[in-house]
Amino acid sequence: MTELDPRAIGAPLERTDGRAKVTGTAAYAFEQPVADPLYVHPVQSTIARGRIRHVDTDTAADLEGVVAVLTHLNAPGLAEHDPELHVLQSPEIAFRGQPVAAVLAETPEIARHAAGLVRVDYEQEEHDVVLRADHPQLYAPEVVNPSFPTDTAEGDPEASAEVEVDHEYSTPMEHNNPMEPHATVAVWAGGHLTLHDSTQGVHKARSRLAPVLGLPEERIRVVSPHVGGGFGSKGTAHAHNVLAALAARVAGGRAVKLALTRQQMFDLVGHRTPTIQRVRLGADRDGRLSVVVHDVVEHTSKVQEFAEQTAVSTRTVYAAPNRRTSHRLAPLDVPVPFWMRAPGEAPGMFATEVAMDELAEACGLDPIELRLRNEPATDPSSGLPYSARNLAECLRAGAVRFGWEERDPRPASRWDGDWLVGLGVAAATYPRYYSPGSVAVIRFQGGRYLVRIGAADIGTGTRTALAQIAADALGCGFRDVLLELGDTDLPTATVEGGSSGLASWGATVVAAAERFRAEFGDDPADGAETSAETPEDPAGGTVATHSFGAHFAEARVNALTGEVRVPRMLGVFSVGRVVNPRTARSQLIGGMVMGLSAALHEHSVLDPRFGHVVNRDFAQYHVAAHADVADVEAFWLDEHDPHAGPSGGRGIGEIGIVGSPAAIANAVHHATGVRIRDLPITPDVLIR
Ligand code: MOS
Repeated sequence: MTELDPRAIGAPLERTDGRAKVTGTAAYAFEQPVADPLYVHPVQSTIARGRIRHVDTDTAADLEGVVAVLTHLNAPGLAEHDPELHVLQSPEIAFRGQPVAAVLAETPEIARHAAGLVRVDYEQEEHDVVLRADHPQLYAPEVVNPSFPTDTAEGDPEASAEVEVDHEYSTPMEHNNPMEPHATVAVWAGGHLTLHDSTQGVHKARSRLAPVLGLPEERIRVVSPHVGGGFGSKGTAHAHNVLAALAARVAGGRAVKLALTRQQMFDLVGHRTPTIQRVRLGADRDGRLSVVVHDVVEHTSKVQEFAEQTAVSTRTVYAAPNRRTSHRLAPLDVPVPFWMRAPGEAPGMFATEVAMDELAEACGLDPIELRLRNEPATDPSSGLPYSARNLAECLRAGAVRFGWEERDPRPASRWDGDWLVGLGVAAATYPRYYSPGSVAVIRFQGGRYLVRIGAADIGTGTRTALAQIAADALGCGFRDVLLELGDTDLPTATVEGGSSGLASWGATVVAAAERFRAEFGDDPADGAETSAETPEDPAGGTVATHSFGAHFAEARVNALTGEVRVPRMLGVFSVGRVVNPRTARSQLIGGMVMGLSAALHEHSVLDPRFGHVVNRDFAQYHVAAHADVADVEAFWLDEHDPHAGPSGGRGIGEIGIVGSPAAIANAVHHATGVRIRDLPITPDVLIR
């Protein structure tokens, strides 16, 4: 073993796959080398509701290079009805953009051109794609994602208070735009299906697809060595996976490649629901909260429910004797919504944390002081003690770093030429999820430890950080660990979701390492091997485990144009132990940039006449780019949370986007005196 190896946890190691990625040799899903592939391109519905009356595929099929045109009339059947995955099985149309046919051809260009030649006649029905707070079909789901109660109530939520703020907030429909579009390469051979897929969980993708395709799981292999981002959208299988599998069925043994276009991603891989949120806060004149009400209206698709958990963080962040949270869904003719980085917490904490800023103003209190006065001793949602609730420390440390004390509390008091300048703050919280159900196998081979687990590295650096955890647990050097992930041929692993990956897989790897050392010592023979399952949750229902953070933002608003610039963002986080500071910082500032993007730019504009998102590319759906991002800094407290698992960390993937949009909205208010309660904050609104 190499003496000079860095010893693992806490070291800011570079990604082990960094060189392969920047030199272009890391093979992503679409680039997996398969011999002589065919290409598939979907044809999408141009109506939002109704049914197909007639499909004319003749012109497309006659084109040279076209191998097949699949429609609901000739596509292979599916075994189980999974609404989102029910592709080419019936003439019914549930949303605009639904796949109604698919062309299989020798090149992607021919497939795409031929797809444009397929003629579909529809029997169109009236559709409904508009979310309204008074939508007549509003209903309460059984639970909200993943399994939180839909509503909560304590005391008298209608109670009055000395100081009250009561407003409506809204956040728009948004779409995940990972750098790598969703892609699948499907190969049938000897009754087995292999999918080279861009996914956040190979085993989860397989377990959802197997019943739909009517195959036992052993006959499906999902491989996903490199993933160019997902943010949640790759956290399950979607229709394009089924389309690729169906196309591969008729491809005569040839591989089939399907890469969604950027535009198709606005229909087929989920989205964040728009929300309409009412937040009512009541307090005494000293700012002590007595009422916290958070009522949410959001949408789902009519064919399959997804209920975003928008108000859940409000349940844990502030206590009050009188509280209520609720979620109501409007079923619409839209695609099925799904995860987008911090589903629920991100849009929900925007409303709560802007409302807290409004309450601070109403009480004549500094917004940090208001939050400090409302720090609960135990978790207000469960009543349990926290493993660590260090929000106050994040706020205090951030205030010092950001220069908060120089802030003049009066809004619209600082000018720099034509620009108004303001500072804002907001709190963040995100639950620590621990996912049982993974298995890790460790084998000593050729002088190195081979660690095998079907986990995912979606660009976060898990491949590196998980190997650091393994090296630490095995007591070996980092370079003595060879980690394999991203393949259902590896031991089963949970999906990368809810910022749960590194802590949950890490606990599994540590359990396997401890067993390995107990069985074989530190000088194992070649071929020594053992495995372990994810241990029980060390928090075990005795403590509440949440991460916290404090966001600070400076906003400059041009008084003539309404343009907003954000020259400085700072986040101070309490996330437990950080395994790799380099990759962790990248996650935290990435989340903050996504928060900046939500605050100022992202908005999927749904045309009510036709039911589709109009701004469906990077030219029109603006994701914060280099020119939008200035000084973004993330720090974290020095912690080790033993209740979080052996690595001591509570997860870092999502908390950066929680609260950061509110900090910016609060900074815009401080700069201008104008309170914006609807995202995104665009120049036209500020000028009005
Ligand atoms: Mo994350 S939105 O839970 O993949």
